[in-house]
Amino acid sequence: MDQKINIAIDGTSGVGKSTIADIVAEKLHMIHLDTGAMYRCVAYYLVSHQVDIHDPDALNQALADIHIRFDHKKVYLNDMDVSKAIRTNEISMATSKVAALEPVRKKMVALQQEIAKEKGYILDGRDICTVVLPDAEVKIFMSASPSARADRRYKEYRSQGIDANYDEILHDIEQRDYQDSHRTIGPLKKADDATEIDTSQMNIQQVVEAILQLIPIDK
Ligand code: DC
Repeated sequence: MDQKINIAIDGTSGVGKSTIADIVAEKLHMIHLDTGAMYRCVAYYLVSHQVDIHDPDALNQALADIHIRFDHKKVYLNDMDVSKAIRTNEISMATSKVAALEPVRKKMVALQQEIAKEKGYILDGRDICTVVLPDAEVKIFMSASPSARADRRYKEYRSQGIDANYDEILHDIEQRDYQDSHRTIGPLKKADDATEIDTSQMNIQQVVEAILQLIPIDK
């Protein structure tokens, strides 16, 4: 069933939006657009090209030079596969700062709206229900306590054999929450008409089920 609707999902860092959006997209034959990955690409470019983000001309030039493309679950920045490189802790922290810049948000929001025009998309991010797609047919706000998110991330790292420190993970999550919800433009907040799903005590399958219940079915 090809859906002629869009689904907008907002939520905090590490709440599992992307994983869930991927699964729901597959089930409903929709396309998942990970908007966080787009902001990460911008941050990766600005960091690796040492762009002075406080110089408006330099920032605008950089934005004009950035081309982001998704293909088979990989993300390409100017034709370079950066799917892994954008997931480091350094880039996560830089992204949170870069995502607060007005020219960056303007460009990303316009791109996301252009892509979703066709319908059939699931977008996940921070400002999807409030700014990017306020008219989306389904609007969801996913939340989970900082400790539940830190716990999941910690277990994920450990299961991959990565050395991890729970307190540091929790601290980073709280810091990103603060930065994402206190910026002036497009801050993370629940849209009044979005359905909140608190996933602290839920597993992936339960969250997917809860979202599927919200999808309007063609009669
Ligand atoms: O979802 P994520 O953790 O990959 O997002 C990375 C950063 O990008 C995060 O700090 C919030 C920011 N972001 C945003 O400001 N707006 C979006 N629509 C998506 C992500």
